[in-house]
Amino acid sequence: MINKKIEEAINNQINAEIYSAYLYLSMSAYFQNRGLKGFAHWMEVQTAEEFGHARKFYTYLFDRGGRVLMKPIEGPATDWKSPENVFEEVLKHEQKVTGLINELVNLAIAEKDHASNAMLQWFVTEQVEEEASALEILDELKLIGNDGNGLLMKDRELGGRALNPLLFAGLAGPATA
Ligand code: FEO
Repeated sequence: MINKKIEEAINNQINAEIYSAYLYLSMSAYFQNRGLKGFAHWMEVQTAEEFGHARKFYTYLFDRGGRVLMKPIEGPATDWKSPENVFEEVLKHEQKVTGLINELVNLAIAEKDHASNAMLQWFVTEQVEEEASALEILDELKLIGNDGNGLLMKDRELGGRALNPLLFAGLAGPATA
């Protein structure tokens, strides 16, 4: 049976992951409205992955005999100054999520909950990748600047991002293995 403090913290994290999905879908709509379909697609894949993250915590709580409680989701921003500004915000958001995951690990250690700590290590690694991909695209957008052709080339490239169906379903990684 999971400890109540950890149960509450994981419920908060489910909310944070669904908020991430909502934010990235809002960013996808921003790109869609500007004719940047590749960027919009990249954000849709990101949205699906965030639902997968929420789903992973959701399944884990049930596996541990905990209770899942859905909380209200905050409304995300709906406009940004530029594609570069969108990715500045993605990076900031992922850094915030990394902080939340680290706090969860600290709590699991303090509560001597080794199972939660083991499950969370998947997210520690995932956050390294999340921050790295946001930073990589942000750096490229800085180089592209006002070059419309460069932006269209990047749009075409991001349109090829594949969705990992296991990650979407929250089934990738050790928590549900
Ligand atoms: Fe669920 Fe992008 O971290």
